[in-house]
Amino acid sequence: MLAEWLTYLTTRCPKHLREMGYLREIIGTRSRYGRCRKAWEPHLRETRNAILAAAESLASRKKVVVLGSGLLYDVPLAELAELFEDVVLIDIFHMPAVRRTGAKYTNVRLLAHDLTGGDLPENDADLVVSANLLTQLPFIPRRFADESEGFAQAIMAHHLEQLSSVRATTCLISEVEHLVCAGNQVIERIDPLYGISLGEPDREWFWDIAPHPELHRQYDTRYRVIAKIG
Ligand SMILES: C[S@@+](CC[C@H](N)C(=O)[O-])C[C@H]1O[C@@H](n2cnc3c(N)ncnc32)[C@H](O)[C@@H]1O
Repeated sequence: MLAEWLTYLTTRCPKHLREMGYLREIIGTRSRYGRCRKAWEPHLRETRNAILAAAESLASRKKVVVLGSGLLYDVPLAELAELFEDVVLIDIFHMPAVRRTGAKYTNVRLLAHDLTGGDLPENDADLVVSANLLTQLPFIPRRFADESEGFAQAIMAHHLEQLSSVRATTCLISEVEHLVCAGNQVIERIDPLYGISLGEPDREWFWDIAPHPELHRQYDTRYRVIAKIG
């Protein structure tokens, strides 16, 4: 907790992103990863494998863009830097450690960009990856909105439109269901997409995002995650 607070105080971050809560979220994700690393690893591996399968299926591999690159936990950066001439990592904010990792590669660029609206930047890519970003896009903006469900849905629908408008091959990775479990029994199912359907997935797996007691003394939270290559 103290380490988290110190990181929060000492990390240079645009004022508006700090005030909106983006820095706190990304530091929180890093801490949860530290606590749940072993449980997360199968999901991170599945995500990296789906991204590499999409990359390897391409005839041309000049540029790959990763949307929501975050802390690079689920991004196979070394492999992408080998496969592509140009790798662009886009997130609303890049932590210093991520900037240092990116700087190790001559063909990796980091772009700080808000992906909630407008068109996608870097629209000449061969592959665009949306890496566990979709449901995160409305997460902070909806705190500031009155009608939050429709608002969240509109933000996610816009991201899907952005992806379908690019000429690149796309690899969308997103959770499609949140499960609250007591052992093997599912006690609650939550739709994080508010009714938006992502269609038939190419791959599907579970992310044990918060095994007990991370969020609850006795219940585990799992996400059902899909990869869709289009
Ligand atoms: C769950 S994380 C994705 C995991 C990430 N691929 C990794 O390996 O660490 C979601 C990411 O989306 C980013 N994000 C949230 N809202 C965003 C926005 N409006 N524009 C760009 N990135 C955003 C967050 O900063 C965070 O890094």
